[in-house]
Amino acid sequence: GPAGIAAGEKVIHPSASAVTVQDRERAKGHRGAVFWLTGLSGAGKSTLARAAESRLFAAGVDVTVLDGDTLRTGLCKDLGFSEADRTENVRRAAEVARILRDAGHVVVVALISPLRSDRELAGKIIGEGFAEVFVDADLQTCEQRDPKGLYAAARAGKISGFTGIDAPYEAPEHPALHLRTSQGSADTVANELVSFVEGAVRLP
Ligand code: PPS
Repeated sequence: GPAGIAAGEKVIHPSASAVTVQDRERAKGHRGAVFWLTGLSGAGKSTLARAAESRLFAAGVDVTVLDGDTLRTGLCKDLGFSEADRTENVRRAAEVARILRDAGHVVVVALISPLRSDRELAGKIIGEGFAEVFVDADLQTCEQRDPKGLYAAARAGKISGFTGIDAPYEAPEHPALHLRTSQGSADTVANELVSFVEGAVRLP
């Protein structure tokens, strides 16, 4: 074949960007980074991510949220909640987060991402600028909140493999930020996240 390419051979030629990271940072006034929110269903990941998004945007930060439930309507619509599917869900979110980070965005990812090994993989894919944020509410609190009625459904045996009930959740051991949402108002906790993000991404 042309240029000695064997039939069926996988040929890829990744191209490099001529726009440097420094160019992007200077244009935006902040670094790109990924804040990876992990926690039980109902712990408050989406609420916190959206509150932080609004505040950061108002402060001039180029910010994007990647939310599990939202990704699962599009990019990840073929995935369920088996261990393999959750791993793939995390991997795809990490790859997208990395692209956005490289483009200079502040990315807030909100995924249960229950397994340490999966979050480690996300950290490896993203590399520099990855920060794990533990959105921590005890199971009892999450179950009492039950905003979507999913815990009740899981207890009734209508959903199997529900995180915290009959599927594992491995809490982070050394998160970059530990947010406790059982106590304290959502507003206060969102401000904690915003301050942490600002401190991490603002150029000196
Ligand atoms: S994961 O584990 O990271 O792939 O999950 P994620 O993409 O964040 O999706 C979590 C939301 O899916 C709903 N849901 C379930 N969660 C956990 N276990 C099972 N079996 C399940 N089935 C459906 C649930 O609404 C989760 O939403 P959040 O926002 O976390 O409460």
